[in-house]
Amino acid sequence: MSKLSDDTILKVENLAIHYPVGGGFLSKPRRHLHAVDGVDLELKRGECLGLVGESGCGKSTLALSILGLQQPTRGQVIVDGHEVGDGLDRMARARITQMVFQDPYSSLNPRQTVRKTLEMPLRVHGIRSAGEIGDRIGEMLKRVGLRPEAAERYPHEFSGGQRQRIGIARALILEPKIVILDEPVSALDVSIRAQIINLLLELKETLGLSYIMISHDLGVVEHMSDRVAVMYLGRIVETGSWETIFSNPGHPYTRALIAAIPDPFKRASGTKITGEIPNPLDPPTGCGFHPRCPEMRDICRTPPTPELDEVETGHFIRCRRVGELFTPRQISEQPQGHSSNGPHPDSFRPRLPIG
Ligand SMILES: Nc1ncnc2c1ncn2[C@@H]1O[C@H](COP(=O)(O)OP(=O)(O)OP(=O)(O)O)[C@@H](O)[C@H]1O
Ligand SMILES: [Mg+2]
Repeated sequence: MSKLSDDTILKVENLAIHYPVGGGFLSKPRRHLHAVDGVDLELKRGECLGLVGESGCGKSTLALSILGLQQPTRGQVIVDGHEVGDGLDRMARARITQMVFQDPYSSLNPRQTVRKTLEMPLRVHGIRSAGEIGDRIGEMLKRVGLRPEAAERYPHEFSGGQRQRIGIARALILEPKIVILDEPVSALDVSIRAQIINLLLELKETLGLSYIMISHDLGVVEHMSDRVAVMYLGRIVETGSWETIFSNPGHPYTRALIAAIPDPFKRASGTKITGEIPNPLDPPTGCGFHPRCPEMRDICRTPPTPELDEVETGHFIRCRRVGELFTPRQISEQPQGHSSNGPHPDSFRPRLPIG
């Protein structure tokens, strides 16, 4: 029996991943690094959820556990009605969830032709007919904008953008339902980024995919996401629809990330933050963001960690001062939320430079 409503393809419930560190001979006692610390997420079919936060906040760790490659310390992940790690083995998982990595060069085997790279998952999953394998590879290369001859070439013979197209083909060859895109354009030349983003959007529509798009840069997820979740020190600090996050963000961290987007289309103001994300082995008391927060007051230092409050329908903020800092918009002012399966209101978005 399905554990999810029909339109929910992925649910993450109270997920925590704590890495044991230290504890070797003559070293400090073993401690636990809270890489992910109580995350709840939901992904609707056909939706793109942008997951944003600075380096080290736990984005990739969360992704690995959705893929079933990292055992949770607590909580659970349910994909397409099955609990990951319980009712769902590795093979079944690979047919539902796949990942596109940041660096297409290091994620591809330099000694394998593209054909070999794309063929292997098919063979592992029991597709043995040479004809079918050839057809599937040919069709996939076409979908990602590569010529059929690309199949016989090696990764080093391609440009960065082309290599990422191969990475996308590899992720899609088993026809998954969910694709996790972990910084899929950050390693690419700025002029190529828009092409890859547009390709990803097109594939999402034609193949009916659901995406989790991970980035440290809100500007990148802005072009793709229906909803956005902002992460800091292993926790979601704000989540809401794309329109809400960009037009009426409430958490000072989200505002700072928006202020850091290098484009002239910013729709919300905020103070850029400086300094590093704190050491997760020694997190600040109270609100984890307080040492860097421009709105910090004494109350923000006091335990416990603030809760994620629903400040308006579907918009959650984790901030002690949310009552003072955030004003919900009047209902009549709220833009029409686009449904998770509906088209993006691209007319409201900054235009993508076409490289
Ligand atoms: N295998 C591991 N053992 C111990 N600590 C780890 C391990 N993997 C990640 N970490 C730590 O967990 C925290 C979260 O790491 P993670 O890679 O998930 O962050 P991230 O948000 O993906 O960062 P980036 O943007 O740099 O990719 C970091 O403090 C990292 O050092
Ligand atoms: Mg990462």
